[in-house]
Amino acid sequence: MIAILDFGSQYSELIARRIRETKVYSEVLSYRTTAEQLAKLKPRGIILSGGPNSVYDDYAPVCDPEIWNLGIPILGVCYGMQLMVQALGGRVEPAEKPEYGRAELSIVDPTDLLTNVEDGGIMWMSHGDSVTRLPEGFDILAETQNTPHAAIADCDRKFYGVQFHPEVVHSVDGQATLCNFVYHICKCDPTWTVEAFVDEAIREVRAKVGDKRVLLALSGGVDSSTLAFLLHQAIGDNLTCMFIDQGFMRKGEPERLVELFEDKFHIPVEFVKARKQFLAKLEGVTDPERKRKIIGAEFIQTFEVESKRLGPFDYLAQGTLYPDVIESANTNIDPKTGERVAVKIKSHHNVGGLPEDLRFKLVEPLRKLFKDEVRQVGRALGLPEEIVMRHPFPGPGLAIRIIGEVTAERLNILRDVDFIVREEIQRADLYFEVWQAFAVLLPTVRSVGVMGDKRTYACPAVIRIVSSEDGMTADWSKLPYEVLERMSNRIVNEVEGINRVTYDITSKPPGTIEWE
Ligand code: XMP
Repeated sequence: MIAILDFGSQYSELIARRIRETKVYSEVLSYRTTAEQLAKLKPRGIILSGGPNSVYDDYAPVCDPEIWNLGIPILGVCYGMQLMVQALGGRVEPAEKPEYGRAELSIVDPTDLLTNVEDGGIMWMSHGDSVTRLPEGFDILAETQNTPHAAIADCDRKFYGVQFHPEVVHSVDGQATLCNFVYHICKCDPTWTVEAFVDEAIREVRAKVGDKRVLLALSGGVDSSTLAFLLHQAIGDNLTCMFIDQGFMRKGEPERLVELFEDKFHIPVEFVKARKQFLAKLEGVTDPERKRKIIGAEFIQTFEVESKRLGPFDYLAQGTLYPDVIESANTNIDPKTGERVAVKIKSHHNVGGLPEDLRFKLVEPLRKLFKDEVRQVGRALGLPEEIVMRHPFPGPGLAIRIIGEVTAERLNILRDVDFIVREEIQRADLYFEVWQAFAVLLPTVRSVGVMGDKRTYACPAVIRIVSSEDGMTADWSKLPYEVLERMSNRIVNEVEGINRVTYDITSKPPGTIEWE
């Protein structure tokens, strides 16, 4: 594995993902990780990430100086390189000309770290400081117009530094640079594959859980479904999958989920019918945050009752992913046992917290994976594409897509409208092109229309379809008019109570993806 010491760069995770794309396992660790701790992990190489500080700041983060003596190859990126230079006796100063964005790399030494990296190729820079004197033993590998030290190396000690960011896509041969480091310098083999991960995860789960029972709350999304497949392979009947039907999923989805799991994959699902109780709790409620809180509390309560009924269980399986682990590192550790504990179930279940007496031990076999890796694992385990590539769906589901009070009648209307939107998106082969596609119902608004010879006075439906990379920012999708037209025609003709269709053309920001 390759260890990445994180000095606060927004790209640290990205470095890990790029390394993993070379089929070598990589982890992001705090810059405070000591040389002794690192040595125990036996990394083949260490990468020092970038960071927002200047190495000459009073409180600039530094690594344990002992890591220079470990005899492990080290690559410093941006701040990481400057830290290396300063620690080994060179000098870093504010740059005369800061460099942000694209820069042409002139290669001085095309061997070693820069093998197969194009001379004159574009690399991405983002720095206000520069190395002004190299430490003893270092040579220049490449320069740019503004930086004589764009890539440096002490090949004997296997210390390398790049001022550019090889991890970002704009750096044309960035990945080639990382491959050189990983394969040629650190001598790693490309063995971290999905299959290898699955084998190891199954072995680990078996070793941890033994013949104890595990409870898993299935949501229908890719994380919990992949988890279910993996655990079922590992421990078979000792896994209990529970699906709580709150009544806010899309048309036919709960039934489809059970059908897929039980009939096709022979993984039994405890189907908890809870529609009535969730709906009853939402009576008269219109405030979006109250809706979320009520649904969350009801989920916890149902979860508690049902887990007692089906239990006892020793473990709770959670679809925690690597970004959650990096963000919440060490926060949920039980001070007495040192075990990670479930103080809260993942936010996609929208539960605030489990009561004290319901604290399970956790099994989190996906905790090393990024989202796209989970999809690959799901696929390798035989999960169908309809789940692997399913659009994100909020925990409170359709309840937050009905503005105002949620009633059984309005849920039925929204389910029908939503079904048509989804069907037409799929029919147009656009499902995988967009981030989310759904419908929203508005309260109390009615408009006049005409159908046949009759005047109608009914409700509008809103179609919301967005394109996005990560849900943080989004743009409305410029769908072909014909697709929108088909949706609109079908909705007005097929769904009673809707006589008008509008398309939401707001980006995020300033809008949000959901309406509530
Ligand atoms: P917004 O509306 O904030 O949504 O632009 C960003 C992404 O988050 C999803 N979302 C939720 N997911 N519980 C969830 O599990 C929620 O309460 C919730 N609200 C929004 C939304 O669907 C989009 O993908």
